[in-house]
Amino acid sequence: MITTRCIDTDTARIAVHLRGHGPVALLVHGYPLDHRMWLETLRSELAARRTLVAVDLRGHGQSPWMGNREHGMELLAQDLADVLAVLTDQPADVVALSMGGYVALALQAMQPRLFRSLCLVDTRATADSDAVRAARKTSLTTVVEQGRRAIADSMLGKLLAPQADLLARGRVQSMIESTPVETILADLHGLMARPDRTSSLSRIAVPTLVVVGEHDAITPPAEARAMAAAIPGARCEVVPGAGHMVPIEAPAAFLQLLDSFWRD
Ligand code: MLT
Repeated sequence: MITTRCIDTDTARIAVHLRGHGPVALLVHGYPLDHRMWLETLRSELAARRTLVAVDLRGHGQSPWMGNREHGMELLAQDLADVLAVLTDQPADVVALSMGGYVALALQAMQPRLFRSLCLVDTRATADSDAVRAARKTSLTTVVEQGRRAIADSMLGKLLAPQADLLARGRVQSMIESTPVETILADLHGLMARPDRTSSLSRIAVPTLVVVGEHDAITPPAEARAMAAAIPGARCEVVPGAGHMVPIEAPAAFLQLLDSFWRD
């Protein structure tokens, strides 16, 4: 059974969804999503070997928006550090997708000792390009003037591979449409402001796996390979047929990769 728990930190109330036994594995979702993107992972047999903990970043899922105008990656990373401090006194396996990966890289730079291993999924270490920043500025207005449905409409084609089924589309759409407008605004500001972390990749000293969908249009395989090449000992796995949402689009392949990574 998946249980839900709220953790009050000094600055936020963070919901976590847990299943399993053993060392903590923290699952960090992307923008503008929530813990539900890890449903298959939470329900998997990996729960026999890890306490799987899918977090709702502040303002997402069951964690309320706390009034921040900007969700900087360091702010979100501090929330993860606070959550881990409550859940475990041991280093954790961190699995993080896209914006979750930006947050995990911020946490890795701030508190590397919290990590036992790192799995970066459909993410990048670089900052936004000028074109991406301009698109985010448009999204700031779009979400206020036209609502979350317009954000979902503009993102779905980029988040999922063309062959993704209706259920995958529906799930991603539901998550985007249930994310508060305030959160979307704060996330967009935080995403635009995030620094390039490429130079810190060489300092990652824990086992690292990079996973990317073959058709990922947001963080393409070439970028994932370059990121893995910059992390000592890291491996990059490209998942055939999937887009930017590998854990939803290709859960069996994803879980197999995670399983063998954690067994290494
Ligand atoms: C995500 O999935 O978290 C976003 O697509 C990340 C981004 O827009 O850079």
